[in-house]
Amino acid sequence: MILKKYFGIIQFKWGIKMYIKNIELENFRNYNKQKIDLINGINLFVGDNAQGKTNIIESVYLSAIGKSYRTIKDVEVINFEKDYCRIILNYNKLDINKKIELFINNLNKKIIKQDEVKIGKLSEHVGEILIVIFSPDSLDIVKGSPAKRRSFLDMICSQISKSYYINLQEYMKCLKIKNSLLKNGNIDKEYIFVLHEKMSEYIFNIVNYRKIIIDKLLEKSKVIQNNLTKNTEDINLIYISDFINLEKNEIKKILDNYLEIEVIRKISLKGIQRDDIGIFVNDKEVSKYGSQGQNRTALLTLKLANFELLREENNENPILLLDDIMSELDSNRIRFLLDYIKDYQSIITTTDASFAKNAENTIIYKVKNGEITQF
Ligand SMILES: Nc1ncnc2c1ncn2[C@@H]1O[C@H](COP(=O)(O)OP(=O)(O)O)[C@@H](O)[C@H]1O
Ligand SMILES: [Mg+2]
Repeated sequence: MILKKYFGIIQFKWGIKMYIKNIELENFRNYNKQKIDLINGINLFVGDNAQGKTNIIESVYLSAIGKSYRTIKDVEVINFEKDYCRIILNYNKLDINKKIELFINNLNKKIIKQDEVKIGKLSEHVGEILIVIFSPDSLDIVKGSPAKRRSFLDMICSQISKSYYINLQEYMKCLKIKNSLLKNGNIDKEYIFVLHEKMSEYIFNIVNYRKIIIDKLLEKSKVIQNNLTKNTEDINLIYISDFINLEKNEIKKILDNYLEIEVIRKISLKGIQRDDIGIFVNDKEVSKYGSQGQNRTALLTLKLANFELLREENNENPILLLDDIMSELDSNRIRFLLDYIKDYQSIITTTDASFAKNAENTIIYKVKNGEITQF
């Protein structure tokens, strides 16, 4: 117990060494051939609009997670004039040099390799490099539809637990089959009941894990939010799901009972694709009653809690990707953020680098029309 506590302290201070040494881009978005050396600290990319700053963030995310957060079709990231693209990340984990290579061509072929070994399934890849991304769109986690909060949560759960990711993928496959049957009016109830059997198993696993992770996220969020607001804003997260604390057979019963009305409506009405997280500040739902500042503070809190949770659960430092968010934060929040991230690797894009004037452990690059030069 004491040892664990002691270890926890060491981990808190240092985490497990992990950082990206460089990024090599070939025909990715508006880049031809570009190598970018990174430091294990703040990597700042400065430039006007539409020069290629977000593309750098996207390239790291895409190669680490295996999918872009910006596009549905992989081929869109290939340079307009080329028929393939490649991203190579050279990184260092526990003092060992490692490499991820992602290749996409315009025939929709995607190959991911870790140290020259081809990855068969994305579930083998997610979690190899931990990522926390914070962009202007992230505000949707607080202000947007439940789907945004679910994907925020799924991203955390999947980076901590491969089995969560697999459960979610399998569930989504079943849901897709069920929805297409409902849509076509092609109803074989016995077959759907069998699908429900499988789905209730996945729901059981997913809901239990989501519950655990939301509780942990809340614990971290409360501490961060108190520090950030000098105890004036108390955050609360409430998991919303039809299946909390239910056994598998009870879950199946709910699914089975809803089938009749689903047949009429031609779509699935019950499932973890309807889950949500309620985000409250001082007991009020922040998206409805919070000021713009409170919404942004809650988001910053959630992102930092996300970072801390990934780091603790995996005993490894995540990479923080901050895309063009500095202009949206006031000077207090910027100071808080910079102080928080100074011990980790981050990639930050901005049009105005004045906030980083005295920042330590920082390298600044200029981005202009798909070319990167050191400032
Ligand atoms: N597939 C592509 N091929 C070539 N250029 C692209 C591609 N996709 C986007 N771009 C270009 O990338 C630029 C936008 O890059 P982005 O990183 O979003 O800019 P910013 O610096 O504002 O973050 C635009 O000029 C756009 O035309
Ligand atoms: Mg941008």
